[in-house]
Amino acid sequence: MTLDDLLDRNRQWADARRARDPEFFSRLARGQRPRLLWIGCSDSRVPAEEILGCGPGDLFVHRNVANIVAYNDINIASVVQYATVNLGIADIVVCGHYGCGGIRAACAETLPDGYLGDWLNIAGWAKRTVDQALAREGRSVAGEEYHQRVVEENVRLQIEHLSHLGLIRRQRAERPDSLRLHGWVYDISTGLVKIVAPGDT
Ligand code: CO
Repeated sequence: MTLDDLLDRNRQWADARRARDPEFFSRLARGQRPRLLWIGCSDSRVPAEEILGCGPGDLFVHRNVANIVAYNDINIASVVQYATVNLGIADIVVCGHYGCGGIRAACAETLPDGYLGDWLNIAGWAKRTVDQALAREGRSVAGEEYHQRVVEENVRLQIEHLSHLGLIRRQRAERPDSLRLHGWVYDISTGLVKIVAPGDT
């Protein structure tokens, strides 16, 4: 597929959209009221709008490798600020996914070189939490089951990071129950979302 093919598709998409709903683009041009803030993985197989049956204007989206919320990341902090303060979004979803290459790399003996290793080091805490839990349970889990547990734990960990951000703490102190943080995991092999942390966290 060439870039020209993709631009052709863009024109076809815009034409079809306008044919179905002539006001569609002029309505969106007036502003946005997205239903939730989506913090997901950059993985091409997890397109937020598509898997939730949504379109333009429905979701405010931030994606990075392994859906990580780092306390010193002004990129995600400004996304969270704009979403909650300016757009008034009350629901924030951190969505991981099974088969996440970032989580696999974070669990490997050696982290990748360069920026990727530095970044994925943050998800390494999820691996350590899982290892400690398995040690307590006296169980040994390997392969896909182990990977899935770390993916789920990483989502819980990033929700915890989110809840510790000064911006989130201040808003919750000022307006209790104003924000709900949800943890989801998407299964690439079925197309379905599983809840791993309900929105009352
Ligand atoms: Co991923």
